[in-house]
Amino acid sequence: MTVKHIDHPLLRHKVGLLRAKGTSSKDFRELASEVGNLLTYEATRDLQTEKVSIEGWTGEPIKIDKIKGKKITVVPILRAGLGMLDGVLQLIPNAKISVVGLYRNEQTLQPVAYFDKVVKDVDQRTALIVDPMLATGGTLIATIDLLKQKGCKRIMGLFLVAAPEGIAAVTEAHPDVDIYVAAIDERLNDKGYILPGLGDAGDKIFGTR
Ligand code: URA
Repeated sequence: MTVKHIDHPLLRHKVGLLRAKGTSSKDFRELASEVGNLLTYEATRDLQTEKVSIEGWTGEPIKIDKIKGKKITVVPILRAGLGMLDGVLQLIPNAKISVVGLYRNEQTLQPVAYFDKVVKDVDQRTALIVDPMLATGGTLIATIDLLKQKGCKRIMGLFLVAAPEGIAAVTEAHPDVDIYVAAIDERLNDKGYILPGLGDAGDKIFGTR
C-alpha cells in the first residue's frame, strides 16, 4: 500500500479543528466532509481524460477534455464513512455508491461484513473507500478483501487520520492499494483509539457521544 500524506495548510487547519474536544457534531460533520473533498481532489489526479468535440460558444467546434470510461464507486464504511460522503460526491457527483458495514466477531476479533451493497460493475471501476479513521487496519483489510472478491482491480482509500500500526497492517496485506490521509498520528491506545486522534468519529458525526 502506498500512503499519500497530503500536507496542506487547509487540511492541517481543518484536522486541528476536528481534534478539539468542544467541536459540535454539526461542525465535525462539515469538517469531515470538507477534508473528504480535499482528499478526493488529490486522489483523482490520475484519472484519465479523453478529447471530445463539442460546439463552443462561438458556434465553432472545439475539443474539450472529459473523464474517460467507467469511473469510480465510492465505498463508505458504515457508519462513520457516511460523514465524508457528501464532500467526496461534490467533486464526483456521478460516482456510484457501494456501502459496506462490518462488525467485530467477539470470539475471533475479526471483522465480519453484515451488509454490503456493491455496484455490479465494480470490476470496471476504481473503488474509493472512505472512512475517517485508519486505526488497526482490520476493517480496511476486510473491506479490500470483499471488494477484490467481487472483482475490483483498483482500490484507493481516503482517511482523515491514520495510525502507523494500521498503515503497516494494510501495507502488508494489500501492497497494491493507495491511500490518501490528512494526518498520520502517533499510535493506538490499548482500546484501539488513535492518539492524539479525534476520538470516536462515528459518535461525533452522528451526535451519539
Ligand atoms: N475509530 C474511531 O472512531 N476513532 C479512533 O480513534 C479509532 C477508530
